[in-house]
Amino acid sequence: MLFIDQVDISGKKLLFRVDFNVPLENGVITDDNRIQAAVPTLKYALEKGASIILCAHLGKPKGKVVPGLSLAPVAKRTGELLGLDVVLVEGVLGDAAVQAADALLPGQVIMLDNLRFNPEETGKTVEERGDFGKKLASLAEIYVNDAFGVAHRENASVVDVPKYVQTSCGGFLLKKEQEFLGDALNDPRRPYVCVSGGAKVSTKLGILNNLLGKVDDIIIGGAMANTFMLAKGYEVGKSLVEVDLVDDAKSIIKKAESMGSTLHLPVDYLYAAAPDAQAAEGVCAADAIPSDSMVLDIGPETIENFTAVLERSKTIVWNGPMGMFETEAFAKGSLAVCEAIAGLDDALSIVGGGDTDAVVHLMHLADKFSFISTGGGSFLQFLEGKELPAFKALKEYSNK
Ligand code: 3PG
Repeated sequence: MLFIDQVDISGKKLLFRVDFNVPLENGVITDDNRIQAAVPTLKYALEKGASIILCAHLGKPKGKVVPGLSLAPVAKRTGELLGLDVVLVEGVLGDAAVQAADALLPGQVIMLDNLRFNPEETGKTVEERGDFGKKLASLAEIYVNDAFGVAHRENASVVDVPKYVQTSCGGFLLKKEQEFLGDALNDPRRPYVCVSGGAKVSTKLGILNNLLGKVDDIIIGGAMANTFMLAKGYEVGKSLVEVDLVDDAKSIIKKAESMGSTLHLPVDYLYAAAPDAQAAEGVCAADAIPSDSMVLDIGPETIENFTAVLERSKTIVWNGPMGMFETEAFAKGSLAVCEAIAGLDDALSIVGGGDTDAVVHLMHLADKFSFISTGGGSFLQFLEGKELPAFKALKEYSNK
C-alpha cells in the first residue's frame, strides 16, 4: 500500500476521499475535529502544487438530495482552515462536477456535494454501486484516501475508485491511524489495558474477543457492565442489560481467566429511578442495587479500583464512557477514567468512538492523549483485528 508521500503528486489532479461526517446543529458545525484531522494531508498536497477534488458523506440521506445534509457548511469550514475558497459542486454527481474538475487549476480545491445523495455510493453489491466509482475516478489522475472514519464501509468512493485510477494512496491521517492502532494491537508496551464502556455489549464483543489474551487487563464500565454482572449472578434492578448476550458475557469471563487477561468490573454504583434523573438517589454496592432502580454511573470504590489499574499501565485503549456522562450527576466515573489516563506521562493512550471523544474534549484533555482516533465503527473494527475494506482496496490497487 502506498501513502501520499511515496507518490509524485506535483501538479496532479487528486480525488481526495475524506471523512467530514461532522455533527451539525441548525446548519452549524459543532465539532470540526474530523476536518482539522485531514488538513495536514491537504496542505501537503497543495504545497506540492496539486489540485484537489474533495469528496465526503454527511449523515444518511439514503440516495436522495436532502438540503439539510448538503456539505455547504463543511466546504466553508474547510476553506477557512486551508485559507482559500473551497467551491461546492451542489447536488448529485453529474456534468457540473466534470466541468468543475476540468477547470481546476493547481492549488485550487473544490468539494463534491454529499456522496450519499447518489444511491450508488452505498450500494450493497458491485452491481448496486454500478459505475459510480468509475465516474468519480474519471475526475482525477490520483486517488487519495484519508477517510479513516469510513474505512469500514464498502462504499463506492472507498472500495471502487482505486480500481479505476492509475495510482491510489492513503493520506497522512490514514497512516497515523494505522500506525497507532496497529502498534496497540501488535507491539504494546505492558501492562496493556483495554477500557471498555458504553451502553451495549453487542458493539464491543468483537474487540473483547480479539483482545482477550493480548491485553493484561480489561476494565468494563458503563451499562455494558450490567450484562457481565448478570452473567456473574448479580441482580441489576431496572438497569439496562442485553439479556440475549449473557452467555457471550459468561464465555468472555471464562476465557479471560484462562487466557491471562484480568477482568475488572464495578463494585459499586450511583443509581436513580430512571435514565432522565438529574441527580443520584444514592451509592450502592454491586450486590445491593435497589430492585426498582437503575445504575447510571460507577461508584467511588470502583473509580479507585479502575484508577489503580490505569496508573500502572503503559498502553491503554479506551472506548466507551463509564456512565451517563451527558448528565453532570453521572459523569464522575467517565471523567475520573479520563483524568487517570491523561495523567500518565509515559504511556501510549488511544481513544476512539464519538462518546469517548466527547468526554476527552469536555475535559479539555485531548492534548494529554497520545492519539484520538477519528473512527467510530472503523476504530472498533480495526481493533477487532479485521482488515478494513479501505485498506484492502488500497493494497490491492495501489499502482497499476
Ligand atoms: C462515522 O461517523 O462513524 C463515519 O463517518 C461513518 O458513517 P456511517 O456510520 O454513516 O457510515
